[in-house]
Amino acid sequence: MSVLIRGGRVITATDDYAADVFVENGVVTQIGLSLDARADRVIDARERYVMPGAIDPHTHMDMPFGGTVTCDDFTSGTVSAAFGGSTTLIDFCMQSPGQTFPDALATWHQKLERARPVIDVGFHLAVTDLQKGGNLEDLARVPEQGVTSYKLFMAYKGSIMVDDETLFKVMKVAARTGAMVLVHAENGDAIEVLIREALAAGHTEPIWHARTRPPELEGEATNRAIQLARVAGAPLYVVHVSCRDALEPIARARAAGWRVTGETCTQYLFIDESFLEKPDFEGAKYVYTPPPRPKEHQEVLWRGLATDVLSVVSTDHCAFKWQGQKTIGWDDFSKIPNGGPGIEDRLNMLHHFGVRTGRLSLNRLVQLVSTNPARTFGLYPRKGTIAIGSDADIVVFNPERKLTLSAASHHSNVDYNLYEGTEVQGAPETVLVRGQLIIEDRQLVADPGTGRFVRRARVPQ
Ligand code: URP
Ligand code: ZN
Ligand code: ZN
Repeated sequence: MSVLIRGGRVITATDDYAADVFVENGVVTQIGLSLDARADRVIDARERYVMPGAIDPHTHMDMPFGGTVTCDDFTSGTVSAAFGGSTTLIDFCMQSPGQTFPDALATWHQKLERARPVIDVGFHLAVTDLQKGGNLEDLARVPEQGVTSYKLFMAYKGSIMVDDETLFKVMKVAARTGAMVLVHAENGDAIEVLIREALAAGHTEPIWHARTRPPELEGEATNRAIQLARVAGAPLYVVHVSCRDALEPIARARAAGWRVTGETCTQYLFIDESFLEKPDFEGAKYVYTPPPRPKEHQEVLWRGLATDVLSVVSTDHCAFKWQGQKTIGWDDFSKIPNGGPGIEDRLNMLHHFGVRTGRLSLNRLVQLVSTNPARTFGLYPRKGTIAIGSDADIVVFNPERKLTLSAASHHSNVDYNLYEGTEVQGAPETVLVRGQLIIEDRQLVADPGTGRFVRRARVPQ
């Protein structure tokens, strides 16, 4: 099948020019003005941006967590992602207690095969235990399967948190195997003390989620992870940076030339701590971790994005329905399943409030949601750009198209929208994955199973 995308404005991480893009057998084969090529399908992209498909390197599909399971699987989650302009996501394969790493990966492959995704999917391996199921020999072999990143949680004590010994051992394996180390950086021990104290004092409301997870404890863990990675010789990727306290050690490390990459998520740029105080348990919708911070941190994050202290914006899509899932914690904030939705609204929110306000250039937008995740996680230049030979993962984005964001506007199974009522101008209109039309004029046209598992390369040393 061949596709000609005609008359658009091609935007990559570095370029911005008018051209037609010709796609054959899933890859881009020609780029040029007024291409004279016969195609099975022609897409009119006049007055549209033609951008590389976005990559979401931080999602949690069909994941058991907090006594329940996230409400999007790889079907609903990838459909919703595609409407948001994402053509690849990298999901966290979680090692359950006592499970071996090969078994954990097999479990995640089964979830993916069962759900028949519409966009491409890769995995990070989340290491939660090196005592019973997991061992370092198996861990060293994981990159052979195209899973070239290990994730560790420094929080969630008593469930998936690891101690520093485990963290450091995994970092040393990563230094040998060319894998990237991802950390959720918060001091889980101190947070646990604060949670127990808050509950003992009778504080049960959602706002206490934030009051028991202060920014200093994210800053401390971020710095600890950076120093440990430095000693181990491993590259480090700090997920969901939410505050100044975490950004500062990343800035210092990058200024020193250390291999540290910072990610923030859409929600930290727009949702602040006060949302947790919404009445009638509405605040539970914003219980994700790290928590929404006081508003002044948002400006620091925007500056971090502009200066490349933060290099990626992901969604950390970890969706739980408010009704029946978030309500598990009605009487106890510590039982509210941690996680928020947002897989569909990253590009339109960043375009509207980033590009249209002049905070981000279009090139920077592409870097943050596509090229940098592709480079960081071993997908570039197959993905993350529009170039001859690259996968034809392409978004035709209409900068004029208006959307009002709501629970009804998205295609996730979740029953609310973090950005409820927000009006944005600019939305993905047509989306191709390896040359196959997934979304056409904001209608789903893909066959289930269009998406594939993507094997990723090791991190360049
Ligand atoms: O609240 C969150 N972010 N839940 C998902 C797990 C994690 O910490 O990324
Ligand atoms: Zn996390
Ligand atoms: Zn996450």
